[in-house]
Amino acid sequence: MKDLKYVIILVLSLIIISSCDQKNKNSETSHGKWKSLSGDKRIEQRVDSVLKLMTLEEKIGQMTQFSANWSITGPVMSDDFKPYLYKGLIGSIFNATSVEGIRKLQQIAVDSTRLGIPILFGQDVIHGYKTIFPIPLGEACSWDLAMMEQTARIAAIEAASDGINWTFAPMVDISRDARWGRVMEGAGEDPYLGSRIAEARVKGFQGEGGWQSLSDVATLLACGKHFAAYGAAESGRDYNTAELSEHTLRNVYLPPYQAALEAGVGTFMASFNEVNGVPATASRWLLTDILRNEWGFRGFVVSDYTGINELVPHGVAKDEKQAAELAVNAGVDMDMTGATYIKYLSELVKEGKVSEKTIDNATRSILEMKFLLGLFDDPYRYLDENRAKANTEKPEFIETARKAVASSLVLLKNDNDLLPIKKDRAARIALIGPLMNDSVNLNGEWAGLGDRNKSVSILKGMTEAYKGTNVKLNYAQGCTITESSPASIAQAVSAARNSDVVLVAVGEDFNWSGEAACRSDIRLPEAQRQLLKALKETGKPIALIVLSGRPLDLSWEDSQFDAILQAWFPGREGGHGIADVISGEYNPSGRLVMSFPRNVGQIPIYYNHKNTGRPVDPAHPDVDYKSSFLDVSTTPLYPFGYGLSYTTYTIGNAKIDKSTMKSKNDKITVSATVENTGPMDGEMVVQLYVRDLVGSVTRPVKELKGFRKVALKAGESKPITFELSSEDLAFYGIDMKKKTEPGEFKVWVAQHSADNSNELSFSVTE
Ligand code: NOJ
Repeated sequence: MKDLKYVIILVLSLIIISSCDQKNKNSETSHGKWKSLSGDKRIEQRVDSVLKLMTLEEKIGQMTQFSANWSITGPVMSDDFKPYLYKGLIGSIFNATSVEGIRKLQQIAVDSTRLGIPILFGQDVIHGYKTIFPIPLGEACSWDLAMMEQTARIAAIEAASDGINWTFAPMVDISRDARWGRVMEGAGEDPYLGSRIAEARVKGFQGEGGWQSLSDVATLLACGKHFAAYGAAESGRDYNTAELSEHTLRNVYLPPYQAALEAGVGTFMASFNEVNGVPATASRWLLTDILRNEWGFRGFVVSDYTGINELVPHGVAKDEKQAAELAVNAGVDMDMTGATYIKYLSELVKEGKVSEKTIDNATRSILEMKFLLGLFDDPYRYLDENRAKANTEKPEFIETARKAVASSLVLLKNDNDLLPIKKDRAARIALIGPLMNDSVNLNGEWAGLGDRNKSVSILKGMTEAYKGTNVKLNYAQGCTITESSPASIAQAVSAARNSDVVLVAVGEDFNWSGEAACRSDIRLPEAQRQLLKALKETGKPIALIVLSGRPLDLSWEDSQFDAILQAWFPGREGGHGIADVISGEYNPSGRLVMSFPRNVGQIPIYYNHKNTGRPVDPAHPDVDYKSSFLDVSTTPLYPFGYGLSYTTYTIGNAKIDKSTMKSKNDKITVSATVENTGPMDGEMVVQLYVRDLVGSVTRPVKELKGFRKVALKAGESKPITFELSSEDLAFYGIDMKKKTEPGEFKVWVAQHSADNSNELSFSVTE
């Protein structure tokens, strides 16, 4: 430790541990007695020893976070927060980058302030830091939890080597609305899968060992966001109102947050939206009653960007001072960029509107995190240029990224086995489309510090893949994402005419998804449809590669073209991973985690919907007075869990080991045999769905309760078993208590959510 004053303070703080220990046993607050995340007495004592030295203002400073905004200005400190930094009134800074830049800020905090408390450095490390992986929605389609944990770990290693110690991820918001731009950052529509992915990502970022792993310099403190129900925004418009029943909130939207908590997530972010009339940032019910008291969360809650200030336009606070009062009393421990706490909390404490104990508890939780991260032992432990160099874009990281791309792609259609185009064939392929020779869009939104120019375009990936073969490639752009001209289309048509197969890379600009990037029309832009129409007229077999941050409305494309490969935004290794799939080096294994609508009017559309009193009978969809549309089917274009492969699979021999199960502490085993009946090795995702036929409240027509990704050689079959426990069937019923209700159940071992072929039944008894 370089700084003498810092050492003296630490020593002093250790001396007074014993005296403050006794008093702190009695420290009650509006949130109850403070409970540490670690539950470790020694750490609690160290926390209290620092707290004891702090003035009220300094404590409030710990509850304050500012953005360095360096992405815009370079490593120059913003004048807005400089004075606070020198006074020791900042707990955390985000968007500061580089070891050198962050060290400068940390040095000020440690050397130039009264107590020298180190700063926590945050960043949106969402799907990679420098090595960019597929967008989270795409990666989720791999259904490969180990891989998702690994990519989060790599992101953590890169970011933590560059001075960052806190990521605002994972986003675990369930969403049923493809218009919402932020679906790209989540894991789709299902609470069970979303929960498993939340766990995998938390462990990836934070490490396997709960709070103990935080001290590892190769991990990041994670943040479950956005609590709560941010994905339920009306009409898919960002920041919009979420109006949903408590049943839906608890049975559908809350489980992934709770799963993140149980995986040890250290922080949560309060969401911008209101939930049933109360903005989440001001909701004591969500942030204290549920999160802390019901679930036992022991970390700290940060607001979203100016989320506290926004309580004024929400109309629950008359001014920012009242907003700060509502937020802190609800349970928001840290104010992200809004400066409401630093401006108003001490006044509010003096006026008796906020208890000093509330401030103490928030500060304790933030200080504890700094202890757990090891920042009090060495504030510079994340700041090592050599480690930054050694841990950035390592070959094995890039190799993992390539595999992640291949396994996140979803083959939606493949008539006449148009794909793969094997390397040993003699073929001419026309490579067309606005996203074919594009690097900039591939990383998608929220792409950390990834260099967009380094991303491998599909054209580059294909050129490398077919080098030295008898496959000839012929590129023509055809149109940009939004513009076409007769000349550019003519050029593409001529390339198509001179080819045996046409591949067209179409889709969205990367800015069309992510925060504040919602769309009411989710079809391909007109310019691209013009190009596709002209290509269709050539009569050549055509495969589309679709790059997008959301499920698009692909009804027209599905009706016109032979093959569709959904590629999301695949990240840095996009071109390589896509070429691996096109060439058949990798057999596609991705399965959708969001339903693809037939048109935007079907939204919200999701597989785990309710039956209604007048469900459509699939055998007689035209019968009147049913819950249907006059102009479109009620089914999605491609259902949740769906995806094709270059081989075929069957599931058979489905069995259940007993026909009844008790409603508590019991289980049944469901088994089946899966077989690869086609010509190629591959991986299939076997999915277990249940339906609870009668409940005290209406139940979904299907619910995912388990899955396995199984590798099968051509011709190979394997037995698969799933254990289903009575607790797996529990839900919040009419009395809003979580339990398993006795009754009849159906269960399916399926290839996707609309596959009803292996149906079994069982009953649950008291
Ligand atoms: C606003 C976003 O909603 C949130 O997800 C993000 O972490 C913060 N801005 C910080 O960038």
